[in-house]
Amino acid sequence: MAARRRTSPTTRPAVGAAAPAPHEQRHPRRQRRVLASTRACAVLPPKRPFRVTSVTSLPSVPPPPPRRMFHSTSTCLRPEGGGSGTGHAPPWRRLVRCAGGCALGRLMNEGRRTPSGVWGAMGVSDVCGLWRRVSGPEEQRLLELLSYGLVAVGAGSAVLLRFIHMPYGRYSSRRFGCLLPARPAWLLQELPSLLVPIGLAACGGEVSAAWPNRILLGCFIVHYVQRALIFPLLIREGKPTPFFTFALALLFCVYNGYLQGRSLSNYAKYPSGWLKDPCFITGFMGWLIGMAVNIHSDHILRNLRKPGETGYKIPRGGMFEYVSGANFFGEILEWFGFALACCTIESLAFALCTLFILGSRAKQHHQWYLEKFEDYPKNRKIVIPFVY
Ligand SMILES: NC(=O)c1ccc[n+]([C@@H]2O[C@H](COP(=O)([O-])OP(=O)(O)OC[C@H]3O[C@@H](n4cnc5c(N)ncnc54)[C@H](OP(=O)(O)O)[C@@H]3O)[C@@H](O)[C@H]2O)c1
Repeated sequence: MAARRRTSPTTRPAVGAAAPAPHEQRHPRRQRRVLASTRACAVLPPKRPFRVTSVTSLPSVPPPPPRRMFHSTSTCLRPEGGGSGTGHAPPWRRLVRCAGGCALGRLMNEGRRTPSGVWGAMGVSDVCGLWRRVSGPEEQRLLELLSYGLVAVGAGSAVLLRFIHMPYGRYSSRRFGCLLPARPAWLLQELPSLLVPIGLAACGGEVSAAWPNRILLGCFIVHYVQRALIFPLLIREGKPTPFFTFALALLFCVYNGYLQGRSLSNYAKYPSGWLKDPCFITGFMGWLIGMAVNIHSDHILRNLRKPGETGYKIPRGGMFEYVSGANFFGEILEWFGFALACCTIESLAFALCTLFILGSRAKQHHQWYLEKFEDYPKNRKIVIPFVY
């Protein structure tokens, strides 16, 4: 009898080791599933590849109450209901659930804890408190995912724009919804890129008081003061914007405003002396020159028309001597400079997305000019001087 009751040497716990929990003894297969899913989530990249310094200390987050709709990262790692959840999902879906689901879940759950709920009438301090509570590694992972999403959106648009014209300006069409006047459409669609980062910075994130963060966030905000408030007022006889294009641009500005604003106000940490670093200085100069080229080129385009004219002429002067999309070249240079100065994955994603989208629009304009004007300068490149 004694020999039959003896545990086999492979399953016997080591002397001094904690005894396994009863459920683990009863369900060895489930235990294996837990380990497998934990390993699967553990292969997610732990650090951001393009950030200069990793976040070393993160704010402690209060433990989540039981029975939530969304889960914190630790519960994401465990399959529920015997492993039917994350364990068998493809890697991309596990990534989205573990990072995006958890950060969004925390946002929703923390909102529910406020007296009036997140969608109720919340005061400014409630909203800021909410942002403070959702900050942490899960939101940081969400930002990383959104950055990959932004690059994917840009690349997808570039493929799509090989077949259709970007529907606004000279390619505007009623097929994409009712037509909105150019000025209010530009103002409203670009406004979130200005207001969202200002709101996030006003809430005072982890790093928003540091000088590099202030300056870089300032660069982003200055651009959108120009784009959302000044540029629309200066438009001369611009073509109306279809509702679909307007809605997409609005969504893009909310998405990117959150991405850049949250990254720079809460996560991007810079070493002391970053403002004297060659990366920062070169990037900042690129941003500044790019913005100057963009504004000057838009000014040239605007002044091609006399009051009341709506037609098109060949743009001349400035960077238009080299490329058909001089204003787009300025904007692309601006955001790559910004990415170099920021060294964050979020800013790099924005620069790449801009390159994909504006590179495609510049190509469409270039072909359009060649078709419409026989005397169009043949030596002009599309968007990158001397190169493309
Ligand atoms: N970051 C981003 O992802 C992004 C995306 C889109 C735009 N943007 C920026 O937004 C600004 C405007 O973009 P856009 O696509 O509207 O630029 P665009 O197509 O070059 O048009 C700019 C303005 O100039 C007028 N115009 C253009 N070419 C003309 C010509 N040959 N003769 C007379 N007038 C002409 C247009 O009138 P019509 O409206 O009548 O064509 C429009 O009012 C640019 O600075 C661009 O960089 C940025």
